[in-house]
Amino acid sequence: MSSAIIQMLDTLVEHRDRLAGTSMREQFETNPARFNEMSVQLGDLIFDYSKNHIDDAALRDLLKLAEHAELAEKRQAMFSGQKINSTENRAVLHTALRNRSGKTVLVDGEDVIPQVDAELTRMEAFSEQVRNGSYKPSGKPITDVVNIGIGGSDLGPKMAVEALSPYADGPRSHFVSNVDGADLADTLEHLNAETTLFIIASKTFTTRETMTNANSARKWVEATVGEKVGEHFCALSTNLEKTGKFGISEERTLGFWDWVGGRYSVWSAIGLSVMLAIGADRFDEFLDGALAADKHFQEAGFDKNIPVLMALLGVWHRNIFGFAAHALLPYDNRLASLPRWLQQLDMESNGKSVMLDGVSVSIDTGPVIFGEPGTNGQHAFYQLIHQGTEIIPCDFLVAALGHEPELDEHHKILLANCLAQSEALMRGRTLKEAEGNPHRVFEGNRPSNTFLYRKLDPKTLGMLMAMYEHKIFVQGVLWNINSFDQWGVELGKELAGDIEKVMDANDNTGANNASTKGLLDAAAKFR
Ligand code: F6P
Repeated sequence: MSSAIIQMLDTLVEHRDRLAGTSMREQFETNPARFNEMSVQLGDLIFDYSKNHIDDAALRDLLKLAEHAELAEKRQAMFSGQKINSTENRAVLHTALRNRSGKTVLVDGEDVIPQVDAELTRMEAFSEQVRNGSYKPSGKPITDVVNIGIGGSDLGPKMAVEALSPYADGPRSHFVSNVDGADLADTLEHLNAETTLFIIASKTFTTRETMTNANSARKWVEATVGEKVGEHFCALSTNLEKTGKFGISEERTLGFWDWVGGRYSVWSAIGLSVMLAIGADRFDEFLDGALAADKHFQEAGFDKNIPVLMALLGVWHRNIFGFAAHALLPYDNRLASLPRWLQQLDMESNGKSVMLDGVSVSIDTGPVIFGEPGTNGQHAFYQLIHQGTEIIPCDFLVAALGHEPELDEHHKILLANCLAQSEALMRGRTLKEAEGNPHRVFEGNRPSNTFLYRKLDPKTLGMLMAMYEHKIFVQGVLWNINSFDQWGVELGKELAGDIEKVMDANDNTGANNASTKGLLDAAAKFR
């Protein structure tokens, strides 16, 4: 972090202290145009950031931070295929997967767009065969699809399939991610091997959890269909050598590239389960939504740029106020998995403590992300958000329209609750208003953003997801960290391998420490 940026943070601290003399409630009272001034609309999506404890002067200085960090240049570097993932020497081009403009994107001098288009065409052809029932590996059409994958090979597709369930008209979708046999067993219990297609989704095709589940699924299918087993499997991977070794033919292997990060991969072949559920046209709309967000991120001025504003407000909260967590609160039951998806996207990307040059960061980076759909969360953990000693900035998400017109009364209540929560956090309740009862006092001044959209359709979902992707990118630039590697997951993986070896050898003296040995001894007794 340059000394100029550190100095700018000091200026922002002065703004924070100045703003302590006023409340958000007063800011709304004195400026009736606050919502108009502090919201941005892109198509059917509105981003309202007026309920943050900030004003124009502070925002102007926050925006300077983005300029100083050379955000425009770094954004261009990402979109144009430069190898910004420096620790893995890779380009970062999930945006190329939804680049429908035909514009060239070069990686190592080669245009990647024709490859993207070709793979999408193959994906559409296979998906159509399965959806129209002509793909019959055991003589019967496919009724159920099981995606076996973990992390980015599970969370994005699973969330999108759930979110877009009103558009689903393909085979039923299932997701198995956990190496805990319970996950696979519970899924297989209701399935017929003859009519089930397994998608083995793994960028590397080496992930222990996924390969273990894939091998067990294979045995389960083989027991019923015998030599037809291979036809019940398809693979989504960058590692074509390994998919071949697993016995999945090239015909049913859809590829992607090392410049697609796992947690950014739902737009690639990894989205096959989504396409199988909703069809190629709807999947196209999903890509179009992301493309609209990409264009907005590239073209809008920083002061009207949704991901830039989201990122800067995040920095305002994390680095100037010291808030350690961020809640994602979709008032949309079909977005129940959105917080889990964002947890990986944000925490695996920006949970870093060294900068690009390997020097330790001197300020905090990514916050803890958590969340639940409203209104359920209200009856669980919102107490702490309203009256706890931690201040937790929140993102509320809500549609103007539900998918169930016959239950519109429900939607009215949902919307009212969503707006009430952000209002309560913002305005609070004074001791006087609480008639002198301190237990009923709400501090107020608790920050939130609200995304309001017309309806949760494929395009809107694509837009929303891409907005969060770009917010994370911007924060990575501001913190000068690499948002696109994930070395922090490696040590645990290596140690699990060591412990498996100890268990296989039936000799716990080989354990690395007394606690691991003690627990292995105890587990052995129970087993
Ligand atoms: O958790 C580490 C990680 O590499 C994630 O980044 C990735 O999404 C997940 O594992 C799964 O990896 P793969 O798709 O290679 O199986």
